[in-house]
Amino acid sequence: MAEHTNAGAIDPRGKEAAALLAALPTPETIADPYPVYDRLRPLGPLFGYRDYPPGTVPGEDAPVEAWVLLSYNDVAAAARDHRGLSSRDPLQEQSSAPTLMLVNHDNPEHDALRKLIAMAFSPARVAQLEPWTRQIVAETFAGLPDGEIDGIERIAGVIPARVMIHLLGLPQGDFVRFKRWANAFMLSADLSPAERTASNAEVFGYFVETVTALDKARTEGKPLPDTLMTALLTAEIEGQRLSLDEVIRFCVTLVVAGAETTTYLIGNALRALSILPDVRQRLAADRALIEPFMDETLRLMGPPQRLFRVASEDMTIAGRAIKAGDWVAIFFGAANHDPDVFPNPRNFDLDRPNLNKQLSFGLGIHRCLGAPLARLEARAVIEEVLTNFEGIAPGTAAPVSQTASLLNHGFDHLPLVLRRPGKERAA
Ligand code: HEM
Repeated sequence: MAEHTNAGAIDPRGKEAAALLAALPTPETIADPYPVYDRLRPLGPLFGYRDYPPGTVPGEDAPVEAWVLLSYNDVAAAARDHRGLSSRDPLQEQSSAPTLMLVNHDNPEHDALRKLIAMAFSPARVAQLEPWTRQIVAETFAGLPDGEIDGIERIAGVIPARVMIHLLGLPQGDFVRFKRWANAFMLSADLSPAERTASNAEVFGYFVETVTALDKARTEGKPLPDTLMTALLTAEIEGQRLSLDEVIRFCVTLVVAGAETTTYLIGNALRALSILPDVRQRLAADRALIEPFMDETLRLMGPPQRLFRVASEDMTIAGRAIKAGDWVAIFFGAANHDPDVFPNPRNFDLDRPNLNKQLSFGLGIHRCLGAPLARLEARAVIEEVLTNFEGIAPGTAAPVSQTASLLNHGFDHLPLVLRRPGKERAA
C-alpha cells in the first residue's frame, strides 16, 4: 500500500516536486497515478503541471500549465466553487473541437440549460431504458465465445455506445464510429493531430445532419420518434427552448462524456469482480451490495482522474495564491485516495462507512447528469455476471492499462475468463 511518509521532506518549490509534477502526464503514471499523488498531496497545491485539457489536440495545441489540487478537501471545495473556478475552456473555444454543453458552461447559462436538458434527459427516460439495456447486455454475454475474452473489446467497450445510440434514436450500426469519436476527443487513443481534428469535425458534422433532419420533421408536423433527441428539441420551460446548436452540442457531449467513461467503469468493475472472489460472492448473496460495489470501484479507479478549471478571480487555496486566469487541475482520482478520508485507500473495502463520498461523478452544479444511466448499465453487467456465470477470473495475459491521458482511467484490454454453469447456457 502506498504511504506518503517521506513526502514532508520534499521542498514544494524544489527539484523533486518539479519532477513529480513532470511525472504526472507520463504513461507510467497514467497507468498507476496513485504513488505520485501520494507524494504530491501532502505538498499542497502546486503550480507547474503541464497537460492537455479535453478537446485539445496534442501536437497542434500547446499543453496548459496548471495548479494541481489533490487533497479531498481542496478538490471538493474547488468542484463546488463554480463562481471562482470557471468551467469555460478558452483553448477549446479557439480550437476546432466543439465546446461541450453544460460541462463547459458557467452560470447563469449553465443552470438554465441544465434545467431544460434535465427535463428531456429525465429519470423516467433513463428508467425506461432498463429493459432494453438488460436485453443488450444479455445478448452481448450470450454471444461470448468460451475461454478467454477481452472484457473491454467484447463487453465494456460495446454496451455504453449501444445504449447511447439507442437513447438518441440513431441506427445501431453507427456504434463503431461512436466509439472512435469518443476515443479521439477524450485523448485516450494514440492518434495523430490531423486524425484527432478530423474526428472532432466528423462527430460534429454527424449531429448537425441528424439533429437538423429531425428538426425539419418537427417543423413539418411529422410524427417524431420518442427519443432523447426529440425530447431535447421539444423541451420547453416558460417559453425557453434549446436552440438547434445547443441540441447538437449536447448530443456531441453525450457521446464524448458518457460512453467512454462508462466503458472504463464497467471494465474496472469486471476487473474487481475477477480478482476479488470474496467480494463477488458477497454480491451474489446480497444484490443490495451492488451499489456500494460500484461506489468503491469508482473511488478506487475513477474514470476521470482530473478535470480542468480556470480561475475567474484571484483566490487563495490552502495558503497558495492563485491568480485570475490560472489553470487549475482538480484531481478527483487523488481525492478519492486521500488517506485522511479513505483510510488504506488502495484496499477495495465494501464496508467503508463513507463510500458515497467518492468524487468520480463530480460535485456541485456540474455533478454528472448521466450518473443514473452509467449506474444502470454497470449494474446490468454486474447482475448478468452474478446470475448467469459461476465464476469470473483474470485471463492468462495481463490487462493493458490506458496510458494516453489522465482524463480516463482503466483498461484498454482486459483478459477475462467467464465460467458458465455446468451445461451450456441457452442463448
Ligand atoms: C462512469 C461513468 C461516468 C463518470 C465517471 C462521469 C463523470 C462525470 C464528472 C466527473 C462530471 C463533472 C464534470 C465537471 O465537474 O466539470 C460529469 C458531468 C457530466 N456527465 Fe458524466 N460521467 C459518467 C457517465 C456519464 C453518462 C453516461 C452521461 C450521459 C449519458 C454523462 C453526462 C454528463 C453530463 C451531461 C455532464 C455535465 C453536467 C453539468 O455540467 O451540469 N456522464 N460526469
